[in-house]
Amino acid sequence: MTTYTFFNHAGGVGKTSATRDFGYELASRGHQVLLVDFDPQGNLTSFLGAD
Ligand SMILES: Nc1ncnc2c1ncn2[C@@H]1O[C@H](COP(=O)(O)OP(=O)(O)OP(=O)(O)O)[C@@H](O)[C@H]1O
Ligand SMILES: [Mg+2]
Repeated sequence: MTTYTFFNHAGGVGKTSATRDFGYELASRGHQVLLVDFDPQGNLTSFLGAD
């Protein structure tokens, strides 16, 4: 198992989008992917269509 973290102090620079797209690309290549959304904004969750 490998854990990847996308981190930057700056807001709105694409951390969540990069996480979503990286996860999608790994999954589309047959890897098992778990995306974990610790951000109270919940953007990753809503980007993926969940409440
Ligand atoms: N590669 C890109 N090219 C153009 N726009 C992008 C790109 N990546 C993200 N964006 C846009 O930039 C905005 C901010 O992206 P995102 O929410 O991923 O940033 P963030 O760093 O997670 O923000 P926050 O600090 O609020 O969590 C969004 O409107 C997103 O669609
Ligand atoms: Mg974000």
